[in-house]
Amino acid sequence: MLLRKLLPRYRLRAGKPADAPGLHAVYERAVRGLGRGVYSDAQIDSWVFANGPERYVAAMGEDGEIFEVAVARRRGIVGFSAYKDEELRSLYVDPDWARLGLGTALLRSAEARIAAAGHAKVVIGASLIGLPFYEARGYRVVAHRHWHSRGGLAIPAADMEKPLNQAPQERQMNF
Ligand SMILES: CC(C)(COP(=O)(O)OP(=O)(O)OC[C@H]1O[C@@H](n2cnc3c(N)ncnc32)[C@H](O)[C@@H]1OP(=O)(O)O)[C@@H](O)C(=O)NCCC(=O)NCCS
Repeated sequence: MLLRKLLPRYRLRAGKPADAPGLHAVYERAVRGLGRGVYSDAQIDSWVFANGPERYVAAMGEDGEIFEVAVARRRGIVGFSAYKDEELRSLYVDPDWARLGLGTALLRSAEARIAAAGHAKVVIGASLIGLPFYEARGYRVVAHRHWHSRGGLAIPAADMEKPLNQAPQERQMNF
């Protein structure tokens, strides 16, 4: 019988500027480690080009993105999400922790907070790495497009969205 690897213990907490180096490390490891076979080496280099920890400080500050990080006792940050309004802007899981359910936990948590803020849907500019993951979690492709990465190459991507459950008082009553 094939046994599924268990997700090691971790906790979710709000991201803060001091997390920026850990966020950047997970981002780069995820894109390089999980993007192989989906994108070419040149596309991956272009994606990660000129991105550094300072971008996360700016995202939390003037850009107003809300970060949540998954922290494991020995490893530190092993995954994170970021959203603003109804848009999920980042979701990255360290390759060592991939396909254990952490991405789903981070996604569910972000969706719950986007819904609690009163939004009716979640929108995502998804990479082709994330596309099958999001489809399996109820998102649909609205448009295929190319994202112009910092390194200059166009990266195939997709706009995706998912309606959020309405609050109970807004549901249509059938009796
Ligand atoms: C997308 C991502 C966050 C998923 O994180 P994760 O922790 O591996 O996700 P989970 O373990 O919760 O879910 C795994 C499930 O997602 C789907 N999935 C994930 N990667 C997949 C792939 N390459 N092909 C097909 N399905 C995939 C499957 O349904 C899988 O379930 P399974 O392992 O039982 O088959 C992670 O792959 C990642 O960081 N990717 C690189 C960064 C990225 O592209 N992020 C999205 C940018 S918007």
